Amino acid sequence: MKPRILIVDDNEKSRFLLSEKMTADGYQVDTAKDGVEGLEKVEKFRPDLVLLDIMMPRMDGYEMCRRLKSDERTRYISVIMLTARGELDDKVMGLEMGAEDYIVKPYSLVEVSARVRSLLRVKMLQTKLREAEKMAVLGEMVDQIAHEVRNPLVSIGGMARRLYEHETNPDHRKYLEVMMAYVERLEKMMERIDEYKGILTPRMRPGNINQVIEEAVEEARKFIGEKDITIKTELMPGVPEFEMDSAHLRVALLNLLHNSIDAIDRKGEITISTLPAEGNILVVKIRDTGCGMESEVARRIFHPFFTSKVTGAGLGLTIAYRVIENHNGDIEVESEKGKGTTFTIRFHLTGSRTPEPSSL
Ligand SMILES: Nc1ncnc2c1ncn2[C@@H]1O[C@H](COP(=O)(O)OP(=O)(O)OP(=O)(O)O)[C@@H](O)[C@H]1O
Ligand SMILES: [Mg+2]
Repeated sequence: MKPRILIVDDNEKSRFLLSEKMTADGYQVDTAKDGVEGLEKVEKFRPDLVLLDIMMPRMDGYEMCRRLKSDERTRYISVIMLTARGELDDKVMGLEMGAEDYIVKPYSLVEVSARVRSLLRVKMLQTKLREAEKMAVLGEMVDQIAHEVRNPLVSIGGMARRLYEHETNPDHRKYLEVMMAYVERLEKMMERIDEYKGILTPRMRPGNINQVIEEAVEEARKFIGEKDITIKTELMPGVPEFEMDSAHLRVALLNLLHNSIDAIDRKGEITISTLPAEGNILVVKIRDTGCGMESEVARRIFHPFFTSKVTGAGLGLTIAYRVIENHNGDIEVESEKGKGTTFTIRFHLTGSRTPEPSSL
């Protein structure tokens, strides 16, 4: 999705020039004439960054910045103040109000462009860091809860099964069936948590992604059951090897394939392909003709414990996400309700975990 930039300036020409430049840089742009309109636009347009003039009628830039930064919902929006030359007070005041940066007028559009790019990058990294911290804390918590739950669960399950074997009262048998079904669900969750713990420390060695895909597909076919599902592979020949934990990647791909199988009601097709992208990026796509999902659901599917299934633990994609991240990759989803879903995984072959030249 394109980052969104809001330009707030009372000068029509400035608004026009900045707007043209930001659009040319590939951002989604909206404009406002003063602080009052600016705050209204923030509500509707939800910008990632605001370019904010200071001297404006009705509400000036300082006040708008102060309000943005004092509201929990808008404080993470980056602000660049456009200040008059030499007005030291303007800069200080702007930074005190919480603006992340300032640009002195008259500015060159090239400079604005560079500052915006750099601030958006910092923001993106901060968001990633916050996500990573959240995942780490959650991992520890889940681990502790699992530890506490495991033993009592084994007892409850075992006793319920034993009672069920000897129970003749139909009502009591029904209650015990419900108990056993819930225990089964929790047991599945414990298994998933073990899987999650298992993928936290990868052991990397050069490997071939096509081979991992073939293995995952073979495993996935066992879960098709009665459904009429074809799993096709379109694998790029001579795919470059890279540093991987192939067992972990197999788990990640299997979780994705498993979901695609679940998403197909009776008959459908799943295609998994490897393709080269620009630069040193290797792309893996998994497409299915399943039930698809609403965008509101798609936004949450990587969150731990998010599930729409009766027996789902909601951890399959959390695990896949983490494994792919460990491999210097990212994953995104495109889906249309009733039509199907495509997951795109991008492995960055150069970067912090550059493979040995011999393995490329
Ligand atoms: N290919 C897909 N098509 C449609 N919906 C999907 C697809 N993949 C994931 N989802 C949605 O995302 C949710 C989360 O998926 P995830 O794999 O994390 O958990 P789960 O499948 O519900 O449980 P489990 O932990 O057993 O995998 C699913 O419950 C489903 O609603
Ligand atoms: Mg799943």
